[in-house]
Amino acid sequence: MTVQWSKGLEGIIAAKTSISLVDGENGRLIYRGHDAKKLSLHHTFEEVSYLLWHGTLPNAQKLQSLQDRFKKSRVLPGHLLAIMKQLPARMSLMGVIRTCLSSMEDQSYQWPPTIDQAIAVTAVIPAIITTRFALLNGNKPVDPDSSLNHIENYLYMLHGKTPSDAHVKALTAYSILTMEHGMNASTFTARVIASSESDLVSSVAGAVGAMKGPLHGGAPSEVTSMLNDIGAKEHAEKWITAKLKNNKKLMGFGHRVYKTTDPRSEALKEMALTLSGEDPWLDLACHVEAAALTLLGQFKPGRKLYTNVEFYAAAILKAVEIPPELFTPTFTASRMVGWTANIMEQSNDNRIYRPQSLYTGHIPPL
Ligand code: COA
Repeated sequence: MTVQWSKGLEGIIAAKTSISLVDGENGRLIYRGHDAKKLSLHHTFEEVSYLLWHGTLPNAQKLQSLQDRFKKSRVLPGHLLAIMKQLPARMSLMGVIRTCLSSMEDQSYQWPPTIDQAIAVTAVIPAIITTRFALLNGNKPVDPDSSLNHIENYLYMLHGKTPSDAHVKALTAYSILTMEHGMNASTFTARVIASSESDLVSSVAGAVGAMKGPLHGGAPSEVTSMLNDIGAKEHAEKWITAKLKNNKKLMGFGHRVYKTTDPRSEALKEMALTLSGEDPWLDLACHVEAAALTLLGQFKPGRKLYTNVEFYAAAILKAVEIPPELFTPTFTASRMVGWTANIMEQSNDNRIYRPQSLYTGHIPPL
């Protein structure tokens, strides 16, 4: 067998999957044969979760049953509340999610992974995020409302009021578009852990650890900082030019796989525009995007740099009033669906991951 080395496993196929296709050349993202952009505009979080887990969209009866199971699992277990109260305030919210997930492990999570396990870890994340956020801010956590769907309930637990339809639609689109994205670092982590026949909780806790890194889940809050720094439309060209002259990267542009517009950013932009009304921040975002694309074309000709998902994700999350420190946790709440779908797929045709390393040290004489 020829053994190849590729830094970061770039170009190496690490699994066969029927869950998603990232078609970078044509700017398409496909979930189980469906266009993710269309799904994000016309379906609920629960419906697309069902699609990624089972392979088909649910009929009315299956959807009802899934919604009921989500509602049962969205209440924070008592011991998680007790643990959360003990964790130091300086701990990051991603660290709190990872710790809470780890604490959910019991006999019911043994190998092999199941849909019930996937629902349990997906449905509980909004309660973890909103409870911790409330405690940190000295507020009383809001209990879930069983009349609301998953996304409505997340916004309700965060803000303590029934969200507007426009906000629900926007966060639903964001969540669906970020649920799954091929063999990224956190999904790979989840699959590697699952391949040892470890439990699903360990796999998703490991995936949260990978997602926490700034090279993976952290870009939307950096887009917000960039837009805050630019401050006003008239400063955009000067600010961007200075960055590019110093060979700095612009947050929210460029992608390893997409060499055309990221389909997720197009869908989110459309959604953001319908939401905005006269929103000056969004107006600034649109202006900065246009200026950045023009200047990237001049400073980096031929590099195929386009707007990526993080740029308009920041706009959407800000528009639905999610604070920047909750951007990565909110991304995690949706990506949980993709991770668990991959863990189940891995278990269906498992072989433990065992790549090799290329030894570059001293070899003593025989
Ligand atoms: N702003 C300015 N220049 C950029 C750029 C950006 N956002 N992204 C890439 N480039 C330039 C690089 O400087 C490099 O220029 P060079 O040929 O003169 O050296 C060229 O384009 C290729 O860059 P490279 O880093 O090799 O591309 P990549 O495909 O490996 O990188 C990213 C992909 C996402 C890591 C990169 O585009 C990036 O860092 N973007 C900003 C962060 C971001 O938005 N991340 C979220 C991704 S979803």
